[in-house]
Amino acid sequence: VIAFFQKKSLLGKKVLITAGPTFEAIDPVRGITNHSSGKMGFAIARAALEAGAQVHLIAGPCDLPTPLEATGLITRTNVVSAKEMHSATLASADCDVFFAVAAVADWGIAKPAKEKIKRNGKEAPNIEFVANPDILLDVAKTVKTKGGKPQPYCVGFAAESTDLEKHANEKRKRKGIPMIVGNIGPDTFGSDLNQLLVIDAGGSKKIAKAEKLQLARQLIQLVAKKI
Ligand code: CTP
Ligand code: CA
Repeated sequence: VIAFFQKKSLLGKKVLITAGPTFEAIDPVRGITNHSSGKMGFAIARAALEAGAQVHLIAGPCDLPTPLEATGLITRTNVVSAKEMHSATLASADCDVFFAVAAVADWGIAKPAKEKIKRNGKEAPNIEFVANPDILLDVAKTVKTKGGKPQPYCVGFAAESTDLEKHANEKRKRKGIPMIVGNIGPDTFGSDLNQLLVIDAGGSKKIAKAEKLQLARQLIQLVAKKI
């Protein structure tokens, strides 16, 4: 019911979203992942649909249902590793807005074992890591200017343990994106509640603690004004 009253501020716009964690396999039974639940990214997908957008959601391993599937306006690609998320995202980068909400593994496993690594008598294995591609940075490199505005308009997310505004803003500039959203902790991972700090070249604006869907709706309205 509330969705019905959302402003259709993204009518006809194409929105691309990465969400959830990634999983980097060590062998067929083990791997490295993180505590991202996917809830914030899925909430943004829902809020974008409510605002009239056509959404492509690229999700790492998480058990969440696809939001508002019955609208027929959302497509979903499930991926596992950061590399898979990278190629799926770059293949769909021709859009109006890109939200990089996924918690992407910074490092993958250099040579995942084909068979389960056995414990018997051996010492602990040394696992070699390789740097994963930066999905947001690579999408940002494809940005073109249309009608004086960047397309896609890229929105990054940042979870920092100290100096949120400073670190997040440095990250924004480093990746060459117009907007970054800081998660104001502590209860963000897995929680239904969050608090956001929206940072662009003009400064920062706090979105007060609320359910992730409420925050997503406010964020969508802010972004809609920029495009
Ligand atoms: N991101 C991405 N691809 C990566 C790493 C991060 O697309 N390989 C995106 C995230 O989805 C997020 C933003 O970049 O929108 C910031 O992620 P974060 O992990 O905070 O930044 P990093 O650049 O990885 O820096 P660090 O982890 O060292 O703080
Ligand atoms: Ca990172």
